[in-house]
Amino acid sequence: MTTLYVFDAYGTLLDVNSAVAQHATAVGADAARLSELWRAKQLEYSWVYSLIGRYEPFWLLTERALDHALARLPSVDVALKPRLLDAYRNLVAYPEVAEVLGTLRARCAGRTDAAVDAAADAGSAQANSNVRTAVLSNGNSSMLDAAFSSADLLPLLDRVISVEAAGVFKTSPKTYALVTEAFNVSPSEVTFVSSNRWDVAGASAFGFRAIWVNRAGLPDEYLDFPPVETVRDLREI
Ligand code: LAC
Repeated sequence: MTTLYVFDAYGTLLDVNSAVAQHATAVGADAARLSELWRAKQLEYSWVYSLIGRYEPFWLLTERALDHALARLPSVDVALKPRLLDAYRNLVAYPEVAEVLGTLRARCAGRTDAAVDAAADAGSAQANSNVRTAVLSNGNSSMLDAAFSSADLLPLLDRVISVEAAGVFKTSPKTYALVTEAFNVSPSEVTFVSSNRWDVAGASAFGFRAIWVNRAGLPDEYLDFPPVETVRDLREI
């Protein structure tokens, strides 16, 4: 039996605040507000475009969201825009990501703990055919390729799936269906992991076993669409 773990990208595997954090000194006192507003607008645009019925690449929405955030925060030098976008293209992964993906892929009936640890340490991509790992993200393919190559996570993933094939953003059921189509599984066979509670709601509504990574200790919401489990970071999966 195959176990399939599918991860959200931005905020779950990749630290969306790391772009501004890398330039925190140059950005100045409004760094935290800039990062929060940038992310909030990026997501808002994805939902508004989806409801309008129009698709634009997530990278374009990310760039427009940064323009808006910079316009709202005049203390931040707009000349930083290219550096901030470069940093977003090469976001840093959360520290536990490579180890957790390696360990999951090494999990296999009959393997000793030592063998699992060794495979995880080696970041072995082919450690185990029984557990598969993938990403489902709003990111368009080129931005996902760039981010996962620079974070050196591609060897630990069977597939990186972009919603662009569905022409709509999460939480449309069409996006989660890309996973069941790609792996030829039913929704209940998918363990979906996201730190975005709205994404957990969409995945849960679709029938995935959704795990919420509540890194920030936020209060629960979307109570109609609960996670099967809530964890503080990926190590608890
Ligand atoms: C993702 C973002 C939106 O889908 O978290 O990767």
